[in-house]
Amino acid sequence: MSIACVSDLRPRAKRRLPKFVFDYLDGGAGSETGVRRNERAFDELMLKPRALVNIESRDLSTSLFGRRWAAPFGIAPIGLGNLIWPRAEEAIARAAAAADIPYTLSTAANTRLERIAEIAPGHAWFQLYVSKRDEDVADIVERVERAGYDVLLLTVDVPLAARRLRDIRNNFIVPFKITPRVALELLTHPRWSIETVSAGVPRFVNVEQYAPMVNRQSIAAYLTSEIRGRFDWEDLKKLRARWRRRLVVKGVMTAEDSVRVRDLGCDGIVVSNHGGRQLDSAPATIDVLPEIRAAVGRDFPLIIDSGVRSGEHIVKALAAGADFVLVGRAMMYAVAAHGPAAAQELIELLIDEASRCLGQTGYCDVASLKSAAPVMRRP
Ligand SMILES: Cc1cc2nc3c(=O)[nH]c(=O)nc-3n(C[C@H](O)[C@H](O)[C@H](O)COP(=O)(O)O)c2cc1C
Repeated sequence: MSIACVSDLRPRAKRRLPKFVFDYLDGGAGSETGVRRNERAFDELMLKPRALVNIESRDLSTSLFGRRWAAPFGIAPIGLGNLIWPRAEEAIARAAAAADIPYTLSTAANTRLERIAEIAPGHAWFQLYVSKRDEDVADIVERVERAGYDVLLLTVDVPLAARRLRDIRNNFIVPFKITPRVALELLTHPRWSIETVSAGVPRFVNVEQYAPMVNRQSIAAYLTSEIRGRFDWEDLKKLRARWRRRLVVKGVMTAEDSVRVRDLGCDGIVVSNHGGRQLDSAPATIDVLPEIRAAVGRDFPLIIDSGVRSGEHIVKALAAGADFVLVGRAMMYAVAAHGPAAAQELIELLIDEASRCLGQTGYCDVASLKSAAPVMRRP
């Protein structure tokens, strides 16, 4: 296996996955304009290269949350990660830890949070969806703390379940019902089917204890029943008081909200529109990043995701004001296309692309790139 670029992975992932699984991974909300807008905005942003700089020795390492990471990106939380490929979550967590970058485990993941903390000590972050019952939230937060996680990402851009048309048309349900259409998909994708059956059909292992019926419902029904649409600033204040380690709010898209999150004592923001999976009409994240940076000041940690498909995109995000980047679908396309071993290769590819792009732009490290901010948009 040798991955040339992320765009080569998507068609191969599409061939290897049953349609309802690929659509769950690839799809977005509504007309999916938001998904395309994210990627296009990254493509359209330009970098102004400096010439005649000695760039032979380059360093991508970056400081965030009191420590240094080998590269300025980590892995975004993906619910149902083991549905994309059996045992994907463990493999990605292991590859991230080996590369010295963070891996974020989703509340809706299929691997126990305690297990991921063992596999990737010091490199595992936990993403929290708050449920309706306070005692369940308190319990999961306590487990996350006991397992040794230092960083909690609270996702706030899912106040309700989005209408993802591909999932609706596929009648996407987990565990899937064997309808004739699903049976045909399973038979025509034997590798995925055999490996999935032998690994055990993915379950919501971190939350099913709070809602025992959860694994019999569709993901949409699960989200609708569990998500607390009325979670507000007061609740965030309470969470801040309960969790004393790093608290990052994921899914913030405006300058006003960002300042409020900062002033509430949170430790950072992920500027994210959930990869276009929630509000189809949300702006591209890279387009709102500059105003958010201007509002929160130079030193407040800003992470960005949504639409990142290359190391070059990572460099553009940093040059446009981000401190760190999360990679969502790109990692899952790699694992779907080539199996869990591709996690390491994808990380190496992104590092190689980012390092070459940094050098080609005329910079040797992240700090000097960020202070020069050599980005430009077409006039
Ligand atoms: C299949 C899939 C599942 C996701 N599940 C979660 C989740 O459980 N929690 C969460 O905060 N974000 C989730 N996200 C959003 C990602 O964390 C991230 O914000 C998004 O993928 C970034 O966009 P990109 O895929 O274009 O890189 C999911 C995204 C995808 C594609």
